[in-house]
Amino acid sequence: NLYFLFFSFESWAAVFLLLGSVVDPCSSQTYALNDKAGLGRVFDGIGGLSGGGATSRLLVNYAEPYRSQILDYLFKPNFGASLHILKVEIGGDSQTTDGTEPSHMHYESDENYFRGYEWWLMKEAKRRNPNVTLIGLPWAFPGWVGHGKNWPYDFPDITAAYVVNWILGAKQYHDLDIQYVGIWNERNFDSKYIKLLRYTLDKNGLEGVRIIASDNLWEPITLYLLLDPELGRAVDVIGAHYPGTTTVKEAVKTQKKLWSSEDYSTFNDEVGGGCWARILNQNYVNGNMTATISWNLVASYYEDLPFGRDGLMTAEEPWSGNYVVESPIWITAHTTQFTQPGWTYLQTVGHLAQGGSYVALTDGTGNLTVVIETMTHDHSVCIRPPLPPFNVTSQNATFQLQGSFASIKELQVWRSQFNFKTKKPSFFEKLTPLKLVDGSFTLNLAEDEVYTLTTITTGQKGSYPDPPPSARFPKVYKDNFDIRNPPFSEAPDFADQTGVFEYYINLTDPGPHVFTLRQVLTERPVTWAADADQTISVIGDYQWHDLTVTCDVFMESVKTGGVFIAARVDKGGQSIRSANGVFFWVFADGTYKVTNDLAGQTVLAEGQSGTRAYGWHTLSLTVKGQYALGQLNGYPLWKNAVVLTPKNGWAAIGTRSFELAQFDNFAVVAG
Ligand SMILES: *[C@@H]1O[C@H](CO)[C@@H](O)[C@H](O)[C@H]1NC(C)=O
Ligand SMILES: *[C@@H]1O[C@H](CO)[C@@H](O)[C@H](O)[C@H]1NC(C)=O
Ligand SMILES: *[C@@H]1O[C@H](CO)[C@@H](O)[C@H](O)[C@H]1NC(C)=O
Ligand SMILES: *[C@@H]1O[C@H](CO)[C@@H](O)[C@H](O)[C@H]1NC(C)=O
Ligand SMILES: *[C@@H]1O[C@H](CO)[C@@H](O)[C@H](O)[C@H]1NC(C)=O
Ligand SMILES: *[C@@H]1O[C@H](CO)[C@@H](O)[C@H](O)[C@H]1NC(C)=O
Repeated sequence: NLYFLFFSFESWAAVFLLLGSVVDPCSSQTYALNDKAGLGRVFDGIGGLSGGGATSRLLVNYAEPYRSQILDYLFKPNFGASLHILKVEIGGDSQTTDGTEPSHMHYESDENYFRGYEWWLMKEAKRRNPNVTLIGLPWAFPGWVGHGKNWPYDFPDITAAYVVNWILGAKQYHDLDIQYVGIWNERNFDSKYIKLLRYTLDKNGLEGVRIIASDNLWEPITLYLLLDPELGRAVDVIGAHYPGTTTVKEAVKTQKKLWSSEDYSTFNDEVGGGCWARILNQNYVNGNMTATISWNLVASYYEDLPFGRDGLMTAEEPWSGNYVVESPIWITAHTTQFTQPGWTYLQTVGHLAQGGSYVALTDGTGNLTVVIETMTHDHSVCIRPPLPPFNVTSQNATFQLQGSFASIKELQVWRSQFNFKTKKPSFFEKLTPLKLVDGSFTLNLAEDEVYTLTTITTGQKGSYPDPPPSARFPKVYKDNFDIRNPPFSEAPDFADQTGVFEYYINLTDPGPHVFTLRQVLTERPVTWAADADQTISVIGDYQWHDLTVTCDVFMESVKTGGVFIAARVDKGGQSIRSANGVFFWVFADGTYKVTNDLAGQTVLAEGQSGTRAYGWHTLSLTVKGQYALGQLNGYPLWKNAVVLTPKNGWAAIGTRSFELAQFDNFAVVAG
């Protein structure tokens, strides 16, 4: 090739010597890294997505120092993933994949900017990296926003005001500047609404908040942007989900920023790390995308919920303190620790001759970061879309630095080797810096490797002592909801799957029920997934089979009130409507029921209970082998209900409909 012709023997020999091995130049392909002809696109960062839904639920319940350690691995600069972007769900009271997240406005007249954990998470990210880019996106909306319809655009001014309130609340109560906001995750957009959102933001002094649309596919938003100049002015970023590293030419034609605004969603083993390595490079190389955001940030939800462990790391055991820094954390570090949003890609990026890819970025003042990946097909499959076949083999690659970079004398070298054959991977290892002669260096690239070569010297592989060993959820668990973790509105380890369960204080109660947990939704939200018609919050160990669940319950609907406690609940997330288990219900009309399903279709027992609204009752459910029995206020109410399936599942509490009800003195004793 061309460069070889102009190379003296001496300079090659010098390079080979410095690399410590003799490289045959004939078997090495050369790639120029050059800024002379101009640069490529501005880089916007690598991020993680908390929410969509409830994916950080268990993180907040970790004790210190583990919780801070996990946050450091995610956000602390020059430590771990050192993420540039945190995207969060704007809670909409609705099931959005692995649970519900509370809205800042459950009701039209209600405003509260202290619910849930996303505010806390954004502040923790910001505390570690003041430059972190914050993004908010709704998946769902409280019922009143849709005026009873499962559609948020009939009253676009109400929806826009609702979203803008969240952004204003972030600033007013938490001093958080939200920089980007989206429309409606993976659902229809409405041009009129987007323009109104832009207008409402501007009217509220939020001109700097940029709009991302439409968090779905490249089309049809791209076409609308090209045909409607006013819409074009309202939208700053086209955000596509799971783009498979490619874009469409119309999207390039809009001259907008193109982002993979949700990607990854892959089990976080080594193949997951390989997926992440491949798409972080190739989303730009193939698809001109300048930001990639992982769903999800951290797998902090019960693993038996849908898409278990699809996060950059795993922190799903607050009761033990155990967490796992998975390979995607170190793969992220290869880019994030050596670039910043605002850096620019070089035009000289691309594929390697024998498979794999390289990108190069600069800060514009002479710094250069090159990231190279040689992930093979089978070791880099993501959950979606299907990955067309390609081949990667080991190869020698020579990089020739030109333009502003021609005089660089030394590059820091960081390497990850997946080593699938030996199953002994090494991630984010700092190697001896490379001395450059005539701006050239050659790498002996094996399959399934990631390299960073950079002028930035601040990279660090952070570490903490091993966290406590993994352990199952405690077999004996009690919560009287009296001791509260001040910043949070929900009780530890309860994972709401439909409805929202919040700490409640009844100061007029003279007895033991001042502090309770209350289901607060009174109407069905504008949903994203299939919320159940009942509300339900699950807790515990999915493997639980024989156990006793006890809870005090208080109905607040005189006519239609109904509450339950349950065991062996076998489904959550988007499948919550079809959850089975053993459900012990009491109703305000003085009856009880035992059903095999949340929907209440399969009745195992029923009869009179004398239960009523506005009085506390103690329910107790024991399931042992194939039999179940229930007690009311300490007395047997029913027994010998036969339970063939499911064999195991979580414990749960809930209500018959979207209605107010309270719970107190929750306890589980598992066998
Ligand atoms: C890379 O270069 C080394 C040293 O010249 C050589 O032994 C090896 O065969 C080359 N590898 C490939 C894949 O060309
Ligand atoms: C934040 O950005 C500024 C300006 O780009 C930079 O000087 C500073 O080092 C950044 N801080 C961190 C923690 O990355
Ligand atoms: C988009 O990517 C393609 C393929 O790498 C490249 O040829 C083109 O120059 C890029 N266009 C822009 C505007 O970034
Ligand atoms: C590179 O970045 C560092 C800060 O990380 C800065 O001090 C230096 O001036 C930059 N430029 C070059 C050419 O290294
Ligand atoms: C990969 O390599 C195999 C074996 O050489 C070949 O048969 C196949 O066509 C290649 N696939 C691609 C996509 O190049
Ligand atoms: C609060 O407690 C009082 C006294 O027990 C009771 O009458 C009232 O119904 C309770 N209200 C709620 C909302 O729990």
